[in-house]
Amino acid sequence: MRTLAVIGLGTMGLGIAQTYAAAGFDVLATDAVPAARDSAQARLRDGLRPRVQAGKLTEGAMEALLGRITVVPDPEAMGTASLAIEAIVEKIGVKRGLFAALETVMAPDAVLATNTSSLSVAAMAQGLARPERLLGLHFFNPAPVMKLVELVAHPGTAADALSRARQVTEAAGKTVIACPDRPGFIVNRCARPFYGEALALLEEGRSPAEIDAAMQAAGYRLGPFALIDLVGADINLAATESLATAMDGHPRYHVFDVLRRQVASGDLGRKTGKGFVHPQASAAPPQDAAAIALRIEAALVNEAGWLLSEGGTTAGGIDTALKLGLNFPRGPFDILAARGRAKLRDELHRLAAVAPPHLQGRYSPAPLFREA
Ligand SMILES: NC(=O)c1ccc[n+]([C@@H]2O[C@H](COP(=O)([O-])OP(=O)(O)OC[C@H]3O[C@@H](n4cnc5c(N)ncnc54)[C@H](O)[C@@H]3O)[C@@H](O)[C@H]2O)c1
Repeated sequence: MRTLAVIGLGTMGLGIAQTYAAAGFDVLATDAVPAARDSAQARLRDGLRPRVQAGKLTEGAMEALLGRITVVPDPEAMGTASLAIEAIVEKIGVKRGLFAALETVMAPDAVLATNTSSLSVAAMAQGLARPERLLGLHFFNPAPVMKLVELVAHPGTAADALSRARQVTEAAGKTVIACPDRPGFIVNRCARPFYGEALALLEEGRSPAEIDAAMQAAGYRLGPFALIDLVGADINLAATESLATAMDGHPRYHVFDVLRRQVASGDLGRKTGKGFVHPQASAAPPQDAAAIALRIEAALVNEAGWLLSEGGTTAGGIDTALKLGLNFPRGPFDILAARGRAKLRDELHRLAAVAPPHLQGRYSPAPLFREA
């Protein structure tokens, strides 16, 4: 696999093209919008320039990298690529149309990949002549920096396609974690309780600053509210709503009113200058900081336990994904080992006993808590 294709030259596609080109692959790149194609090289150069100025990349290496990315007018010009990755608009019909077009020009054994965050890969494969060669390669933003890539298999994906996608992506320096074609994959799903329990505590009358301080005292670089402020409350709400819908409104993915109200207020976080905690300085941890951390971590372990029970990934894979994708100091199964099953199960039982009616069922213990 020497030549790869990237379709969609927005935030993610540009970063994905750069990632593979930096590792020596030739990349054919395109976008439906002419201005996006015409500006791609200049945007890549602008992104790389600070690294040259900082002495981390030579001028020659930058030019060589840019020289390996060829912008082409349309997918019809991508027939020589052995792997095509799409990072276009998040609409299943548009993505299906693109893959159908790629199938007609690419070699029969070429691999097709989607960078979707929220769509079902299996649903995307429907109607393809060779659905077994479609898989997910879910990069994180910014793609050249973030080490993690979730490799998503739908039930019909061929092992050979998975191993070839893994091989080139590992060659580009990424840590590739296998995961099932389930809503939110690993990171976007297992992160939910980190925010959700914090929002539940807020609705119970605790302050965002003290909840964040409790989690920082437990070793997290950023607390849940600082993380929401960093990414944007609107983005967090959209991700939460998408997962809640995909999970048929299960209370583990409850969309808290306090988050909706925050978005309605317009205080979205760093990008608007004000959020849940931004721009406040961090607070001192409250007296019950350890109890807050136990509650949030119990919910994190439980969600990871449910995902594990659905198959297609491993405990170690989930831990690595959360450490790389969210900068967590430890993964859910590290927490399980450190705190012990009994203590976490007791905490889930305690939470279930005091849960309000709309959260009944939220704390049902994952199968791993039922094992001897
Ligand atoms: N932004 C993120 O943090 C992030 C992270 C992981 C995955 N994703 C996923 O990556 C994909 C792209 O997201 P983004 O944030 O880069 O979006 P973006 O809006 O920045 O870029 C999308 C690009 O695709 C182009 N495009 C749209 N339809 C097209 C078509 N039919 N053919 C060719 N080009 C087309 C657009 O012109 C645009 O340049 C989405 O599926 C998204 O869910 C995004």
